[in-house]
Amino acid sequence: MELQSYLKERKELVEKSLNRFLPPESAYPQSLHKAMRHSIFAGGKRIRPIIALAVAELFGVDKEDMMATACALEMTHTALLILDDLPCMDDATIRRGKPCCHKVFGEDIADLAAISLILRAIEIVDDIDVAHEISSCLGSQGVAGGQTVDLETMNKKIDFETLKYIHEHKTGALFIGAVKAACIKAKAPEKEAKALLRYAENLGLVFQIKDDLLDIESTPEELGKDTQKDEKKNTFVTHYGAEKSREMMKNYMWDAIKALSVFEGKAEILGEIARFVVDRRN
Ligand code: IPE
Ligand code: IPE
Ligand code: MG
Ligand code: MG
Ligand code: MG
Repeated sequence: MELQSYLKERKELVEKSLNRFLPPESAYPQSLHKAMRHSIFAGGKRIRPIIALAVAELFGVDKEDMMATACALEMTHTALLILDDLPCMDDATIRRGKPCCHKVFGEDIADLAAISLILRAIEIVDDIDVAHEISSCLGSQGVAGGQTVDLETMNKKIDFETLKYIHEHKTGALFIGAVKAACIKAKAPEKEAKALLRYAENLGLVFQIKDDLLDIESTPEELGKDTQKDEKKNTFVTHYGAEKSREMMKNYMWDAIKALSVFEGKAEILGEIARFVVDRRN
């Protein structure tokens, strides 16, 4: 199947399940449930759940058995976006082509919607080890740690190690969480799980470098979110410029693809996803 149709089909499957796992807008208190659904269904590529499904499938796990974990990953990701957009963080106005959660519902409800999405995610996961994995990748030694350093180093000079720490944590951690969660569900053998971890680590860097490039090269219309936001931030682009960043991104992409060699062609879809992350326009 061609990658675009594969992604579209998987996205639809994930969205159907997200709809099932979230309380309806009519549930009391409506404002909170509307805010949660506003951000979840505003759009989004659903790339993390799609990767989790693809990894589990490599080991013969049925999509339906993986769906709660996949949806939990998307709910936590969406919660992180709501928080990332707040005036006290990146102060954004548009997300997924719609006004940010706090612009529609206020900062108070946006905070509560983000917390509720994370808690609902942990609630729906049907495996305690997966729940632990997702929680730890979100916490102070995962995304929250990365976001902290991202914010605290604004307008400051940092070294490459710190720049890498930011990207590996604020963005990489959830890709790592997606792959590890799928490996736990699939009881993946150690050798394969290690290779997939290397894939995820590299893909996280590819993903954030591309995001940094889109910030300067795209438009809010095409990207569905604010652009030209990163001038004061430490990104690969502000450190190395666009051209060198693109080269570094491609090297990480090849490292991600190389990590899949243990699968002898069986994991081609994950390689195609890595190429898609590089070529994407939003
Ligand atoms: C945006 O993630 C936040 C980053 C980690 C760069 P995505 O680009 O996956 O956003 P959606 O889910 O498609 O909206
Ligand atoms: C993304 O970093 C990290 C998280 C959302 C956790 P950015 O701040 O660059 O993401 P966008 O560009 O707002 O999506
Ligand atoms: Mg940010
Ligand atoms: Mg941001
Ligand atoms: Mg960005």
